[in-house]
Amino acid sequence: MLELKNVTRDFINNKKEQVAALTDINLKVEEGEFLSIVGPSGSGKSTLLFIIGALLNPSGGEVLLRDKDIYDTTPSYRADLRLQEIGFVFQTFNLIPYLSALDNVAVPAMLTMKSRKKATDRATELLQRFGLGARLDHNFSELSVGERQRVALCRSVINNPGIILADEPTGNLDPAMTREVMSLFKELNSSGHTVIIVTHEEEVAAYARKVLHLQNGKFTNGTYN
Ligand SMILES: Nc1ncnc2c1ncn2[C@@H]1O[C@H](COP(=O)(O)OP(=O)(O)OP(=O)(O)O)[C@@H](O)[C@H]1O
Ligand SMILES: [Mg+2]
Repeated sequence: MLELKNVTRDFINNKKEQVAALTDINLKVEEGEFLSIVGPSGSGKSTLLFIIGALLNPSGGEVLLRDKDIYDTTPSYRADLRLQEIGFVFQTFNLIPYLSALDNVAVPAMLTMKSRKKATDRATELLQRFGLGARLDHNFSELSVGERQRVALCRSVINNPGIILADEPTGNLDPAMTREVMSLFKELNSSGHTVIIVTHEEEVAAYARKVLHLQNGKFTNGTYN
């Protein structure tokens, strides 16, 4: 359902040198899969996840979602994909600091449901489910790191996207919180979402049903499908 064919991504650094972040990536992800991609710092994990998440153009190759190349579409088509079909949990959360936990989660639903009440009801329900019922009115600075992680996770799933992408979702968490967050991904996967996480930690990657290794912008286990 999601397929990457010969995807490459180069960057030009400040010395005008070309840097290859990804080389010849081939990947097939079926609906309902739970995949993790593990690799060291600089191996291309974030670049790859951004490309899958309709956030960054590849330099070459194709990214097919249901057989349609998402980069052969308009920016507004991709914006719509990001709003409705792909949930993204950023490594640094990207929450809006002056909004409450509730509003941070509700914003994407306000755009799709066009009803503030429906959006906040759904956001409340999600935050309660993830143990944040008593933190609805807290701003970003009034939440612990693990709580921010869960708020970011709630926001990524509020429009019920088929695909959830998470960049180092346990990067700053202690072992207990890591287990909690990873069991939430498992739960989301069991309820039908396709989940792809990238991480540098093998133990975190092991929560997924399939694990791929990325090194210097290439999969070390070759083509994956
Ligand atoms: N805008 C950019 N300009 C130049 N080089 C870049 C740029 N963005 C990324 N790179 C390079 O591409 C490579 C892959 O970067 P990426 O951020 O995808 O790695 P990563 O695996 O996510 O690393 P980390 O675990 O540290 O987050 C790195 O060598 C990085 O220096
Ligand atoms: Mg990264």
